[in-house]
Amino acid sequence: MALNNFTTLPHFFHQYPYDIINCNMTIAHNPTSMIGNRYEINRLVGTGGMSIVYKARDVVLDRDVAIKVLRQKYASTEDMRLRFQQEARAAAKLSHPNIVTVFDSGLDGTRIFIALQYIEGSNLKTHIQTRPSINMITELDYGIQICRAIDHAHANKIIHCDIKPSNILLDESNQVKITDFGLARVMQQSDNFDNEFFWGSPYYVSPEQAKGEPPSIASDIYSCGIVLYQLFTGYLPFTAATVDELLQAHIQVTPQPPSEINPDIPDTLNSLILRCLEKDPRKRFRSFSQLRDNLASVRHSLILSLTAEPIESKPNKLTLAESIRTANPPSSKHKYTLPEKTPKQFDWISILLGLLATIAVAGLIPFWIYVYFNVPG
Ligand SMILES: Nc1ncnc2c1ncn2[C@@H]1O[C@H](COP(=O)(O)OP(=O)(O)OP(=O)(O)O)[C@@H](O)[C@H]1O
Ligand SMILES: [Mg+2]
Repeated sequence: MALNNFTTLPHFFHQYPYDIINCNMTIAHNPTSMIGNRYEINRLVGTGGMSIVYKARDVVLDRDVAIKVLRQKYASTEDMRLRFQQEARAAAKLSHPNIVTVFDSGLDGTRIFIALQYIEGSNLKTHIQTRPSINMITELDYGIQICRAIDHAHANKIIHCDIKPSNILLDESNQVKITDFGLARVMQQSDNFDNEFFWGSPYYVSPEQAKGEPPSIASDIYSCGIVLYQLFTGYLPFTAATVDELLQAHIQVTPQPPSEINPDIPDTLNSLILRCLEKDPRKRFRSFSQLRDNLASVRHSLILSLTAEPIESKPNKLTLAESIRTANPPSSKHKYTLPEKTPKQFDWISILLGLLATIAVAGLIPFWIYVYFNVPG
């Protein structure tokens, strides 16, 4: 599709009675609005820090598309627009069942938009927040599909840079569709980016990125490890009060083993997630195909153990959701806060010594009475 040249678009945004680009308030919808004389805006789908997403109709090909409009502050210079165009062009080369297809990109005045395959469904963030229980096989299937998608991108020399649940869409048949390839890299280069060295979301960023190094295959593996941790435990490994503390946690703090939060996580999966989260990039999986193979092997073993386990042996077994509800969240040491005090425990030796001291003092009282009444003076 027409990715090579930006087209100047009608100023459709100005047809709205409210500022639809910087919309924090009511969004007025004008169903006749067109972008690029081609995409008829249908409705607002959602907003993110970088962009606003609409469902639209491609009137030329008569199909639904998602139109992603970048926030004005990230598209303010010609240089940024060119960088963005380069990334969109690279992402448009990716053709994979687990990747959202980029159809087109364009410009409206100084505002940049991308036309994407529209995914009717949900995303992994909503899935994690709303699932009634954790189905290990389903989550492993998601993990395997995520690996396939990112591996395909890496084979095409594209690093995602911003792997996180909201960028992992799920279609109506629960197929994974990853989006926003390379977008964070462009945003990071914007003069208006909030943190001068920061790539991606602070909850998912690798230790080396937190130190200012550029993203790599290994940093995508780390971010995916955080997603897997969340997928199988329901919790993020690191939380903190500020972005700086969070970055320090990625750099310094050892994550709590996920199986301590969800006891149903087998050892192999526990080690796999922790290997993705190694501080040293060389200790992580080398590639997403290696990670995918390991996830597939965990899935295989789990299916074997589920089919081998007699039904009557597990009547009292908690569902994963129940076990997670009853388990503790990641311990506070994984939150990067002030050094904590170690919990108090009973010190039996001190108690015994204290008791002996009390007996000795108590024994002195009759001795003192004896001395008082019997010693003349
Ligand atoms: N191609 C698509 N089809 C359908 N929905 C989409 C599509 N792309 C994005 N969305 C939805 O649009 C919403 C906003 O996406 P966007 O990428 O702008 O922000 P985000 O990823 O949620 O957050 P942030 O920008 O802060 O990283 C999300 O809820 C996402 O599920
Ligand atoms: Mg996104």
